[in-house]
Amino acid sequence: MHDPLPRGGLIRKLWIGEADLYRDHLLRLDPVSRRNRFAGAVSEDFVRDYADLSFGIDSLIHGFFVDGTLRGAAELRPIGAPLTREAEAAFSIEKPWQSHGVGSLLLERTLLAARNRGLKFLHMACLADNKRMQQLARKYEAELSFDFSNVVGEVAAPRPTPLSMMREILADGHGFATAMFDVQSRLLKPV
Ligand SMILES: CC(C)(COP(=O)(O)OP(=O)(O)OC[C@H]1O[C@@H](n2cnc3c(N)ncnc32)[C@H](O)[C@@H]1OP(=O)(O)O)[C@@H](O)C(=O)NCCC(=O)NCCS
Repeated sequence: MHDPLPRGGLIRKLWIGEADLYRDHLLRLDPVSRRNRFAGAVSEDFVRDYADLSFGIDSLIHGFFVDGTLRGAAELRPIGAPLTREAEAAFSIEKPWQSHGVGSLLLERTLLAARNRGLKFLHMACLADNKRMQQLARKYEAELSFDFSNVVGEVAAPRPTPLSMMREILADGHGFATAMFDVQSRLLKPV
């Protein structure tokens, strides 16, 4: 379950000022991946507007970085009234980094975050021919039960526990330290 990340890769949460990184990543998706990500064909303008709007107060985005460039992302966004405990999840990985276990790691982080936020139902807009996403979701049958006709996954035990909170804090601590190092090295780079 805990596959190592591809060389030079790290996963951390995106910060509010990083919408441009998210936009550039989504624009780099090849046509098939972009269609799968948005469950249909969308224009570049749509992707730009979408990325600008994605950093709402409630949404949480985990990013997969390779040598400082965002190459993958998992978005978790609560939807509907808070009592319904529903959220939308969406994943995007640039083609050269697909099928290397990154989607699995991003889904693990997203499930942990959903659990710690008491979210129970995860909606994923997944096209019927997107076998890879369906396979990925099936790998987590123990933690999620899926109904693909409605594309809704139910998070098992959607309650935070001290251990699940600690796991998220530890993952964030590592992500934060690495992000600070990344920012510092960018500041120190000669222009
Ligand atoms: C779908 C996506 C998120 C999956 O992420 P990934 O990093 O490629 O997937 P992983 O390498 O973690 O593989 C997950 C599982 O998918 C299956 N899989 C991997 N590559 C596959 C392929 N080429 N064809 C079919 N199934 C495949 C395997 O069962 C794999 O698990 P395993 O390696 O333990 O057997 C990613 O490919 C992607 O971003 N695609 C474009 C956008 C998209 O489809 N988003 C989903 C809609 S929200």
